[in-house]
Amino acid sequence: MMSHFITFLLSLTVLTLLTYSASSENGDDYVQDACSVTRYRNLCIRSLSPFSTTAKRNPTTWARAGVSVTISEAKRVASHLVKLSSSGGRYKGALQDCVEVFQDSLDNLHKSLYVLRELNGQTFTSQMSDVTTWMSAALTDEDTCLDGFSGHKGRQIKSLQNRIRNVSYITSNALALVNKLATTGVSDP
Ligand SMILES: *[C@@H]1O[C@H](CO)[C@@H](O)[C@H](O)[C@H]1NC(C)=O
Repeated sequence: MMSHFITFLLSLTVLTLLTYSASSENGDDYVQDACSVTRYRNLCIRSLSPFSTTAKRNPTTWARAGVSVTISEAKRVASHLVKLSSSGGRYKGALQDCVEVFQDSLDNLHKSLYVLRELNGQTFTSQMSDVTTWMSAALTDEDTCLDGFSGHKGRQIKSLQNRIRNVSYITSNALALVNKLATTGVSDP
């Protein structure tokens, strides 16, 4: 009777341990923890959860992940803008401005990712200062593009504005991850 009870207790313990390790292995805790410093947290969790199991608690990996997800989304929106601007219409001028501004934004994002891959203990502070500056410039560019359409109505413009706003939110999140890294320091060589 007693031995049955002990067996029962043991299996309960094993079960609890298994459940616990499964939940930390799928990375939910890691991504939620990393995204806690961001302003658009749900978007952060949705867009960065694929990196959870590799990034774990490494702020360098999270910052890089944030910037690379931003690059992918900014590229998608930039090519959409190119398509729309070549089709002419009422917003041609604003669209062309946006294409230019997005190119500049992408340059800043690429430079940032490059430096985040080359972080070095000795130059860390000045490298992070550059990255912060470039990420802020990228964010400003996206907001400039958005301003070009303010006051305009219409379904197509609304949906374009949503996509650009989305990029600016993702950039803001990436900048928060960069700032987090700047304050915690490098944890991988
Ligand atoms: C916002 O960006 C994310 C991440 O790339 C993407 O999955 C989502 O479809 C985008 N949403 C809009 C409204 O563009």
